[in-house]
Amino acid sequence: MTHRQLSKRALLVQLACAAACLPSLALAQAPAFKVGLILPMTGPFASTGRQIDAAVKLYMADNGSDVAGRKIEVILRDDGGVPDQSKRIAQELVVNDKVDVLAGFGITPSALAVGPIATQGKTPAVIMAAATTGIVATSPYLVRTSYTLSQSAGTMAEWVKRQKIGRVMTMVSDYGPGIDAEKTFKEHVERDGGKVVGEIRVPMRNPDFAPYLQKIRDEKPDALFVFIPSGPAVSLMKQFTERGLDKAGVKLIGDGGVTDDDTLNDMGDAALGVVTSFHYSASHDSALNKKFVAAFGKANNGMRPNFMAVGGYDGMHAIYTALKATKGQGKGMDLVDAMKGLSFESPRGPIQISAQTRDIVQDVYIRKVERKNGQLWNTEIDTVKAVTP
Ligand code: PHB
Repeated sequence: MTHRQLSKRALLVQLACAAACLPSLALAQAPAFKVGLILPMTGPFASTGRQIDAAVKLYMADNGSDVAGRKIEVILRDDGGVPDQSKRIAQELVVNDKVDVLAGFGITPSALAVGPIATQGKTPAVIMAAATTGIVATSPYLVRTSYTLSQSAGTMAEWVKRQKIGRVMTMVSDYGPGIDAEKTFKEHVERDGGKVVGEIRVPMRNPDFAPYLQKIRDEKPDALFVFIPSGPAVSLMKQFTERGLDKAGVKLIGDGGVTDDDTLNDMGDAALGVVTSFHYSASHDSALNKKFVAAFGKANNGMRPNFMAVGGYDGMHAIYTALKATKGQGKGMDLVDAMKGLSFESPRGPIQISAQTRDIVQDVYIRKVERKNGQLWNTEIDTVKAVTP
């Protein structure tokens, strides 16, 4: 074979390969779709980071990491629940890593700090945890899969009225969601002539409940409505019974963070009978939730998923669905548009991302802590359908 013949054959082989290999080459060359996940992995809100991180991993294990020809790459960064850090990290993720989506945000101040970065960077940001009602309206790039305090506190207030509970006090964490909860609760109770007889705000970080609980004991309301964020809420239940408020006849009610599924079993009998309103209980009776709880536990040493996990799992579902809907091409506002109006079954029940507000519409449940098979659960005893934020 002459040299010329050889090179002609080589050329033919090359051409044939180029034609055959083109689609897979194109696929392989599609850039990764990057999700910048900002969570408190350390500090007082670390349980939120742990839950959401585990849920994101579970979603990807359940659904694969190739979506519409793009490889999903999650870049997890710890902001310690410090909003200045959330902002700096978001900036780095948008400018240096060129992420396609931001996600996470364990507390309201973090979400509020990231909003302007999402707007400037034209980068969608999926709020998986933070819950102050007004957050989503602060940037057209924000979408929420967690919940709002108006949903939980409003539903709790309506229950209080139905139960004809007379004198109620409130105790909330002194920042966005706490103030939101306090206002919503009071508004609903007093709309029909009820009365909130005292309002207490406790520090957001490292609260010592003792002096406040003493004051409440002296006041002796029929019920105490509480919002404390997931994480610091753990110590409240213990102190409530240690100070004898339950024996004094004060009924503890509140946002479901108070009987957080992540730590409910550690609260012991003190939690029995506590009534809360919330969008997720690990004991929600559906086939999808049973599968979710079992798979989450299996992958995480028996850990029980809480509402933060479900916000993370559903947030990933919104991202995957939007990327598929845009055939893997979606960027910026196209992705936000693809998330608007999404409705699907979540482990918590049916949910929808409002096409108008980009905020979550969902069922809110009244739950009561019960012991079943040796474990404590938030048993759902009533449902209010499709509550808007
Ligand atoms: C919030 O900061 O928005 C927040 C944090 C923890 C919760 C609820 C709301 O449990």
